Amino acid sequence: MKKNFYTLGIESSCDETSISVFKNDSKLLSNVVYSQIEIHKKFGGVVPEVASRNHLEKINFVFENALKKAKIKASEISLIAVSNTPGLIGSLIIGASFAKALSLTLNIPLITVNHIKGHLFSSFINKKLTEIKYPFLGVVISGGHTQIFTLKSSKNIKVIGETKDDAIGEAFDKVARVLGLPYPGGINLEKLALKGDKNKYDFKVGLEDDLSTLNLSFSGIKTGVINRLNSFKQKKIKYKKEDIAASFQECAFRALIKKINMAVKISKLKNVSIGGGVSNNMYFRKMILKSAKKNNYNVVFPKRIYTQDNAAMISLVGYLDYKINNRRTNLNFDCYSKSIKSF
Ligand code: KG4
Ligand code: ZN
Repeated sequence: MKKNFYTLGIESSCDETSISVFKNDSKLLSNVVYSQIEIHKKFGGVVPEVASRNHLEKINFVFENALKKAKIKASEISLIAVSNTPGLIGSLIIGASFAKALSLTLNIPLITVNHIKGHLFSSFINKKLTEIKYPFLGVVISGGHTQIFTLKSSKNIKVIGETKDDAIGEAFDKVARVLGLPYPGGINLEKLALKGDKNKYDFKVGLEDDLSTLNLSFSGIKTGVINRLNSFKQKKIKYKKEDIAASFQECAFRALIKKINMAVKISKLKNVSIGGGVSNNMYFRKMILKSAKKNNYNVVFPKRIYTQDNAAMISLVGYLDYKINNRRTNLNFDCYSKSIKSF
């Protein structure tokens, strides 16, 4: 009988400690996520030093739970996949050190995974890897990144458009803060927007109407919201937070979808896979599905639980890179806070 191949995924790039077990080429056996949201809530955002300390405190517990849920023993693990870029450096180092120690103790190979590549493949968690049809367009919209890619294969991945400054998730978080919403901002802003008028105000995303580039700039829209609120206060004009939230969300997504539509036209690719925390937003999903239908292309998303940081996507990409792309990592690898542009 053929021996099963188990990939252990480790993710600790920001405020989630997550470990998963992936069986052979397509079956996710466990994906344990310990979220630090409650800890960082009182600070209004992630405090890097606090995040690394909590990863350190919880990683062993998360590991044991992931094995228990997958019903395997540590000695059965075949490969360790760990995210080493991009992210908070202290947090990445905790996951990487844990992975190195395990690799040495169990005498099994280890492979590093770019966290962004994880988000790019998160739509395919629990699907057959043979179902992934190249080439396609990938979009990552998260707290740290807003990028559009072409994927000619699982290793021929190129950025064709990106934000020049803030990520879209960062803009959501900052506007949410200005509106007095609790951390994490994105999901709370989406909830507030449900009760607002999306056409009440117009906010501009930089480069939105520049047809010569697929890039965008999200730093101005948050300033636009702040200026509008200040002017309301000065002039004693009444406004509803719900309307600000709905209008901001509409404008941010309108700009992003314009660029995705442009990317589809330029690349002539008809399949788009979208991942990252912001793709959790149901209003966005409806908006882009409508646009995709009109413009004749297909969009796939991860299950909502896999839009946020998770180790399932890391084990999937680790398996892919190790088994299909034959990539190997030395144990003396480093971690990088900025994304290294090799995928
Ligand atoms: O992918 P992720 O968990 O972490 C990073 O790699 O950054 O993304 C987190 C980001 C945060 O900015 C968060 O506010 C945003 O995703 N987010 C949302 C929603 N859920 C999470 N933004 C808009 N609408 C949501 N429903
Ligand atoms: Zn992420």
